Amino acid sequence: GLDTPLETSSSPALKFEVLAKCSTTKARASRMHLPHYTAHTPMFMPVGTMGTIKGLTTKQLEQLDCHVILGNTYHLGSRPGPELLEKAGGLHEFMTWNRGLLTDSGGFQMVSLLKLANITEEGVEFENPHDGKMMMLTPEMSIGLQNSIGADIMMQLDDVVSSLTTGPRVEEAMWRSVRWLDRGIKAHKRPTEQNLFPIVQGGLDERLRTISAQQLIQRDSPGYAIGGLSGGEAKGQFWRMVNLSTDILPTNKPRYCMGVGYGEDLVVCSALGVDMYDCVFPTRTARFGNALVRTGSLALHKGKYRNDTAPIDSDCDCATCARYSRAYLHIAASKETTGCHLLTVHNIAFQMRLMRDIRQAIVDDCYPQFVRSFMRTRFGKTV
Ligand code: GUN
Ligand code: ZN
Repeated sequence: GLDTPLETSSSPALKFEVLAKCSTTKARASRMHLPHYTAHTPMFMPVGTMGTIKGLTTKQLEQLDCHVILGNTYHLGSRPGPELLEKAGGLHEFMTWNRGLLTDSGGFQMVSLLKLANITEEGVEFENPHDGKMMMLTPEMSIGLQNSIGADIMMQLDDVVSSLTTGPRVEEAMWRSVRWLDRGIKAHKRPTEQNLFPIVQGGLDERLRTISAQQLIQRDSPGYAIGGLSGGEAKGQFWRMVNLSTDILPTNKPRYCMGVGYGEDLVVCSALGVDMYDCVFPTRTARFGNALVRTGSLALHKGKYRNDTAPIDSDCDCATCARYSRAYLHIAASKETTGCHLLTVHNIAFQMRLMRDIRQAIVDDCYPQFVRSFMRTRFGKTV
């Protein structure tokens, strides 16, 4: 039964228990005990930039059944900053969130958001958007900031190149990420309270991904991430890299696929043995007026919803679907912040329900049927 785990791993700040495995794919349903919360996987972690999910309160995130949320070091490091965070007793206390928290290391955000970043062996050099001065984020500083934030899971600073990059730069970034991991491990001051996850890199190159995963597992970490994907490459290449990585990573530890949040990717990557995901997609697309549904998404600003009195999804148990029609949201979503807020609530509820359905199908050992049914509903084809 579910009470005796099939596989376990125990680190000082993370205990992972695989409770059920699919008999034909690599999918598994697990329990992850973190310092602040016990989460069930496969799980999706909504992204909040300033320690808040745009437009939602921590109470709403609890009501939406979020177990772990994501913050990022680049934003938190400049405001509120490490002094205020330490004075507040860490980000959990500061934002009154008593469940799981994961922080990304900051480099990826600087490279992808600022585009002015310059990477050297020392770290990531970037122009501070607040005062225009050049600043350097090193692996040691990233870990120092993440120790002040106090998240349950911290990410290593990695050298991320676009998944479309080819040539020697991909191998250089992969090896540099391994060296930065070792510097991060040395700088980590709270290993019994916070988990540091390494990140598999190596672009779309099977050889480089393999070397990267093999290097990381030698460091014996509480869990592992797969990075550098979902950046415009073909789905087949993306899924191939995930499959190769989960073949190498230990089966008794959590695997986290970074920056992934489209329904079909959550469903496929879970079949490949991934346990954790994060993405700005559900919250960002809500702010553009799109509501997620099983068939894809509804662009509620379009005229065809003007007189549609149905809720977004009559099966959805969220606070938005309980009260509001598509017609109301059609007006609200186009200009009002209230509309964006209501759609954010629905989209997070949608994502959480999809993950609950994935977990249940794995526990019931009918995951392949679940995947087929999901794909049929979404793409209207028999697969
Ligand atoms: N978020 C999405 N992809 C990545 C990645 O490869 N590295 C980091 N640090 N964050 C990410
Ligand atoms: Zn809803």
